[in-house]
Amino acid sequence: VEKDGTRVFSLRMQAGTTEFEKGVRTPTWGFNGSYLGPTLRAKRGEKVRVKVENTLPEASSVHWHGMHLPAKMDGGPHQEVAPGRTWTPYWKIDQPAATLWYHPHPHGKTETHVQRGLAGMFLVDDDRSASLKLPKRYGVDDLPVAVQDVEFDGANLDHGRRSFLQNTGFLGSRTMVNGTLDPYKEVGDELVRLRLLNASTARIYDFGFGDDRAFALVATDGGLLERPETLKRVQLSPGERAEVVVRMRAGEKVVLRSFPQSNYGGGFEQRFAGGDDSFDVLELRAAPTLRKAPELPSVMGDLEVPQEKDAVRGRYFGLRMSGINGRKMDMRHIDETVTRGTAEVWTVRNEDGVPHNFHVHDVQFRVLSVDGKAPTGMLRGAKDTVFVPGGSTVKLAMRFDGPADPDTPYMYHCHLLYHEDRGMMGQFVVV
Ligand code: C2O
Ligand code: CU
Ligand code: CU
Repeated sequence: VEKDGTRVFSLRMQAGTTEFEKGVRTPTWGFNGSYLGPTLRAKRGEKVRVKVENTLPEASSVHWHGMHLPAKMDGGPHQEVAPGRTWTPYWKIDQPAATLWYHPHPHGKTETHVQRGLAGMFLVDDDRSASLKLPKRYGVDDLPVAVQDVEFDGANLDHGRRSFLQNTGFLGSRTMVNGTLDPYKEVGDELVRLRLLNASTARIYDFGFGDDRAFALVATDGGLLERPETLKRVQLSPGERAEVVVRMRAGEKVVLRSFPQSNYGGGFEQRFAGGDDSFDVLELRAAPTLRKAPELPSVMGDLEVPQEKDAVRGRYFGLRMSGINGRKMDMRHIDETVTRGTAEVWTVRNEDGVPHNFHVHDVQFRVLSVDGKAPTGMLRGAKDTVFVPGGSTVKLAMRFDGPADPDTPYMYHCHLLYHEDRGMMGQFVVV
């Protein structure tokens, strides 16, 4: 922390090797280490500055996924950092407590850069969340759970593995949590909070527990729900987050699992693009006696996302692998111009039946409807990324209240990174 209160972080993008399997050195990339990066943490109202140093042999960038910040600081394809260079974005945290993350966003190369290991969490805190009786001892009863699927080709990470017909992107046959294969965690509390992040490039997970126990969903991409919601499954497509609180019994072992998808799209995708796969993701091992935890609060956050009636205009986004609204990403072309301070409704439709999702930079949105029906479960929270299964239509309400910058665009895109890299991305400016 500097004299004026600015919280300063350093992230060094570096190449190295990681021992995923004992005795096998796998070449990887990471931030301040050989794989993944440190969890950054700051509070609403704080100013932050990050020194991003690129020691890799190629240009990359660091994007603050879910963060509300000026376009120049966003870390998208217009803020690439050349090899040997340093980029120092700064901004003021101005959004509710949430589990955000950071990852590279270089034009056309995001999939491989993320797969090699460049990703980390960025936790935002605020006074409200600090006062709530939620598990909040980081690494003890409040656990970061970044889930990635991997495939090994001897000692190397295999990036080539794509689904049948190559339409989804990379699908690995194993999963890791925070870069660890076959992970387990010993816990000593009755209530354990898992900050789930789907950091995979294409894989969609439907998380639940091995014995099908219910858990409390407490937060989504943009932060705390208004009240906890009891669920048995939470589906996360790439880039999405969910915070869940699970109740443990003394001495037990319980497995966080990913189940086959129920709404993946056509039977074809279901079968050949990973929809039927299931994984044991993380084993929680409870101590013989557990620390008592208070009941979860019944009221938690305010969703700071607009309602449909607040919107002054609508836009349509048709998703196809070949592009959004028939266009491929073009760095020199601004696709949409929005007016600072206004709210809009964006209607997003999956037009080609391939699994897609939709992510918008800078904002959190309210899901107004899915195929005309009111959202349920996770889709009731503030979101920045939403799954759009084959043939379905989602309506989203969002407000653009950051600073105007007619020269620097933000991105919206499919977060299946193979799709994004192939051009399923567009640019908008706030004026
Ligand atoms: Cu998580 Cu534009 O990205
Ligand atoms: Cu983003
Ligand atoms: Cu897609």
